[in-house]
Amino acid sequence: MKIAILGVGTVGSGVLEVLEQNASIIAARAGESITPVAALVRDKSKAKENVKHLKVYDDFDELIENDEIDVFVELIGGVDLPYKMIKKLLSKGKAVVTANKALLAYHRSELESLAGEIPFGFEASVAGGIPIIKALREGLAANHINSITGILNGTCNYILTNMMNKGLAFDEVLKTAQELGYAEADPTFDVGGFDAAHKLLILASIAYKLDAKPDDILIEGISDISAEDIYFASEFGYTIKLLAVAKRNENNLELRVHPALLSKDKMIAKVDGVMNAISVVGDQVGESLYYGAGAGSRATASAVISDLIDIARKIKTPMLGYKDKGLDSGLKLLKSDEISSKFYLRLKVRDELGVIAKITNIMSANGVSIDSFLQKPNSNGGDATIYFTTHTCKSAQMKALIDAIRILDFVVGEPFVIRIEK
Ligand SMILES: NC(=O)c1ccc[n+]([C@@H]2O[C@H](COP(=O)([O-])OP(=O)(O)OC[C@H]3O[C@@H](n4cnc5c(N)ncnc54)[C@H](OP(=O)(O)O)[C@@H]3O)[C@@H](O)[C@H]2O)c1
Repeated sequence: MKIAILGVGTVGSGVLEVLEQNASIIAARAGESITPVAALVRDKSKAKENVKHLKVYDDFDELIENDEIDVFVELIGGVDLPYKMIKKLLSKGKAVVTANKALLAYHRSELESLAGEIPFGFEASVAGGIPIIKALREGLAANHINSITGILNGTCNYILTNMMNKGLAFDEVLKTAQELGYAEADPTFDVGGFDAAHKLLILASIAYKLDAKPDDILIEGISDISAEDIYFASEFGYTIKLLAVAKRNENNLELRVHPALLSKDKMIAKVDGVMNAISVVGDQVGESLYYGAGAGSRATASAVISDLIDIARKIKTPMLGYKDKGLDSGLKLLKSDEISSKFYLRLKVRDELGVIAKITNIMSANGVSIDSFLQKPNSNGGDATIYFTTHTCKSAQMKALIDAIRILDFVVGEPFVIRIEK
């Protein structure tokens, strides 16, 4: 089987290396050898050494006229350009493999329709080397999926792990992460929760046959987490993780990405550093947990090549897992405001008489009941930090509460909340 690599960067180079290093076992498993014959680069004159043995193109329209190519592997990234390219490829009946979660977060359903019977692989788009797409789509296909709880962004997990373990501030750890290559120069996409949200949407399509877009779901990032939140979490047996959660409750479905206080004894709470993990609860199988490298050249290449092997084996799995496209799951996606959880609330207040009573009155007026409470006085006798955890309430109630609290004259700075995951 002959392939073209579109975009020979971190993952594209990894695919070339793994195909060469593991050529015999890949050929044995696929039933034929998988051979890169062409590459698309931005500028042919600047092509790197690792593509010199291939036919190198810098014009996509010229590349797709090469009839020798069986599968096109899109590893450029971004949304608009690969979208146009893949649409063109599918309209010409060409098989595609991609690792591009951003593209699939917006266009997976349309691409599924366009692909029809044409092979379309995207295992590497979620959790890098962890075969979670195949696990959900094939291995767990007999189950209704009750929940998916994932640590899907290695950058955030690296930052939060180091904040927890070393007591360092967000900015400090981010800087180290950037120096080590674990975070992009512009980290917004990762630390804002958007990357994890893209991956969650892909998983939700397979688990629930749901075509939601990033704007439809709750997405909160980690950049406002402070050393004080870390202190509270450590004191009370929690860790803080950026979680991507899909949860079904009868006919309601929650899709949400946010930092969460998570009890330290949960399996997924022990996933540290850049690693990813996904816990899936099926109605028949119960919980299964998947752990591994969520990114990196070779780990991601491993997932890309697993799709190429499937194509060589002529395995015809429906792209998003449903042969009957007419199935109505009957599920309603909850709006962000309707999602309920327990909350942790941190407030900085002037250390005055009656402050706590006033706040607790406002909390009960907003229907938010307190589970626990802690006050940490400032050693210099100035402002005090108070921490509450609440019983379960709706996000809308918590929002109303924050609006009521932030205007109080004794409240200093912005109140901050984190959801508590059961
Ligand atoms: N890195 C990971 O660990 C990982 C894990 C899972 C999924 N992914 C996904 O895999 C994809 C690739 O990621 P990556 O990390 O390999 O990115 P990358 O290192 O930035 O590689 C992208 C490559 O595409 C090339 N490119 C950009 N525009 C092009 C164009 N118009 N024509 C031809 N080539 C073009 C870039 O060339 P220049 O160098 O000239 O810009 C670069 O070589 C993304 O969708 C990403 O989300 C990555």
